[in-house]
Order: sequence, then structure tokens, then C-alpha cells
Amino acid sequence: MLLSGKARLAGVIGWPVAHSRSPRLHGTWLDRHQIDGAYVPLAIAPADFAASIPMLSRIGFVGANVTIPHKEAAFAVCTSLADSARRAGAVNTLLFQNGEIIGSNTDGIGFLGNLRAHHVDPSAGPALILGAGGAARAIGAALLDAGTAVTFCNRTRERADHLASTLTARTLDWSQRHAALADFALLINTTSLGMTGQPPLEMALDRASPAMAVADIVYTPLQTPLLAAAARAGLRPVEGLGMLLHQAVPGFAAWFGVTPSVDEALYRIVAGDLLG
Ligand code: ATR
Repeated sequence: MLLSGKARLAGVIGWPVAHSRSPRLHGTWLDRHQIDGAYVPLAIAPADFAASIPMLSRIGFVGANVTIPHKEAAFAVCTSLADSARRAGAVNTLLFQNGEIIGSNTDGIGFLGNLRAHHVDPSAGPALILGAGGAARAIGAALLDAGTAVTFCNRTRERADHLASTLTARTLDWSQRHAALADFALLINTTSLGMTGQPPLEMALDRASPAMAVADIVYTPLQTPLLAAAARAGLRPVEGLGMLLHQAVPGFAAWFGVTPSVDEALYRIVAGDLLG
């Protein structure tokens, strides 16, 4: 690790933050590019969040990632917002520049980058997004911007309806998700179902068209029951860890001046951490 008195500082703000893979990920890129800088975990409680951001900027940080539970609060402290943040209603990347706090949301672009890395064209056909939380909104907005028709399907229908009304998408009843599957080229799970300790997501994948891609944003475990079922059914699984890697690229480029690459070696390093 290169670290001088002039090192650039960035980090990830969360509460808790100990589970975050981002320090490992950005640390690998800093090493690869021999950059005089550091990326550290910042455990900041919700009550301290708003005051801590201008302070980080003043003490020399170049920016930070923001994770649970601060993504909406981060929106409020920014002095300038990228379209991606406005569309997502949340901020996951902060850039401190010329006294400004600039917020963006890279979840959508990370999701699209991961699809393309799996040779899945995001605009190949309509997408069915399961869930209606922050990730569903960011991914839905990115797909709509890529020209893809989006349908939200959520256990609580009203949350899906609300999302769809602000993003110009459709909705489907949770009970209809199996029967409608043949109409979609892309299925995306943004719910917590399938995560370690949660029940699996039940989907009748035998009703899908053979070319359908199935993406999960859950990455613990790396292969969720949904992705395993997709592989068994001959569909194209797109695992969630790739999204984490791709969403980190724009922040690193803005803070450290180098656009890092996402490759198999990086995947193995971060995946190895998850297994270990
Ligand atoms: P985010 O982290 O993206 O903001 P969230 O607000 O934590 O998401 O929501 C998690 C998603 O998983 C929600 O869409 C939730 O559905 P509800 O809106 O009905 O709560 C969904 N979810 C969680 N447990 C579920 C279950 N057992 N069955 C179906 N959906 C579930």
C-alpha cells in the first residue's frame, strides 16, 4: 500500500459497516494502480450522519460511498445532485469538489454494467422487477433510460404502484408473477428473498421463455436458489456480486482519477472474502 502525507482519502459510510466488501474492492484497485490513497470503512450513526459529511469534506476526503441506512439521508445533504440520484431518490456515491457535495447513484449503471458483462443486452425486451425498495427504483430507472419497458411486482402492491407512477412503468400483482413470466426477457430479484437466512424466492421458471436472463441482486450466497434454478432451467443467470463490483467503478474513477476494470481476478478476490 502506498500512503504518503498527500494520500487521497475515500471510504464507505454505513451503520453498521463491518460487513461491507467495498474497502477490499477499492483497496485491490488502489494496489493495482499503485495509487497514493486509502479507502476506509466509516461507521457513522444516523444521528451523526448529516454533520459528518461536510466535516469529511473539510478534513480532506475526496468522497465516499454511502450504504444502508444512509442512502436517503445522503440525498438531503448534497449541494448538487446527478440525474441518477434524482431518478433513484437516493445517493450512494459522494464527490467532494470545490466545496460542493455532489451526489450520484451508481446502482443502476452498475446493474447494467453487470448485465453487459454477462452478454445480456439490457434493451433486449421487457423486464419484470420483483420488489419495490430503493434498489428496485434505481434499477428500474436505469432500464427505462436504456429503452426497456419495466413492470414492478411487489408483495405489497401499493409500493409497486407508487414506484410505477413516478417512473412510468407498469405493475403486476405478486400472485401473477408466475403466469406472466413468458412475457418478459429479463427477471430481476431485488427483494431480500433468497438471502442467507431468508426464505427462497419461489418462481415457476418453467414458464419462462428459453432466452430469459435471470438476475439477482442478492449476493450472499453468491448463487441464490433463484440463480441455481435458472441455471437448471437453461436460462441465463446473472449473479449479484457483479453489480457490486460495477457500481463501484464511477466513484473510484472520480476520486482517484483512474477508471478501474472489473475482471475475473477481482471477482475471485471479493467472492473469496465472502466465502472466507
Ligand atoms: P431496498 O433495500 O431495496 O430498499 P426494502 O425496502 O428492504 O428494499 O424491501 C425489501 C423488498 O423485499 C420489498 O420489496 C419487500 O416487499 P414488501 O414491500 O411487501 O415488504 C420484499 N420482501 C421481503 N420479504 C418478502 C417476502 N417474504 N415475500 C415477498 N416479498 C418480500
